[in-house]
Amino acid sequence: MTYKVGVIIGSLRAGSINRMLFEALKPLAAEAGMEFSEIAIRDLPLYNDDVLPNPPAAVVEYKKQLKAADAVLYITPEYNRGVPAPIKNAIDWGSRPMGQAENNGQISTVIGASMGALATSIAQNHLRSSLLFLDNEIMRQPEVYLTIGQGFFTEDGDIANADTKEFLAGWAKAFAAFIESHK
Ligand SMILES: Cc1cc2nc3c(=O)[nH]c(=O)nc-3n(C[C@H](O)[C@H](O)[C@H](O)COP(=O)(O)O)c2cc1C
Repeated sequence: MTYKVGVIIGSLRAGSINRMLFEALKPLAAEAGMEFSEIAIRDLPLYNDDVLPNPPAAVVEYKKQLKAADAVLYITPEYNRGVPAPIKNAIDWGSRPMGQAENNGQISTVIGASMGALATSIAQNHLRSSLLFLDNEIMRQPEVYLTIGQGFFTEDGDIANADTKEFLAGWAKAFAAFIESHK
């Protein structure tokens, strides 16, 4: 059984360390029995109730992908000690119309990378608050807070440090087991 995991990446920039992390995690996920595919959020407009009855294609597609996923992985940077706007905006779109939220009750987890020492811990906690409110089954352990600087990735995008890679492989196995036990 391969679980389909939709991955929402909170950074929109091309050189994102969180996107690099997503790419590096794909083979570890595959080994653990998950297929990671991105749920794109960059074309979502800012959330607006007025747009909801006749949503643009990007919103329709986003909601479709949320629904199709067995579980969702949020990979978030931290902006000013909080959740970056694109990821919060995506959660808000998924949560409406009321009673029909695609992201209600989903299996999910949150990880993140930043250049700072706090390594997205504050952003992740903010994000978990919204996901708890949406009644998600959130994998809480192991937590993944990565400070990513020079040398974290090899030139071909792999995780350079063997211990870190082993830890992340263990995290992937734990997430697959969590999905299995909550499906
Ligand atoms: C608007 C803004 C606010 C930021 N605030 C924080 C912060 O609160 N904590 C932190 O660790 N890094 C912060 N950073 C630095 C990010 O960790 C760094 O830009 C990181 O590369 C962002 O992730 P990305 O590479 O996936 O885009 C901030 C960056 C930006 C652009």
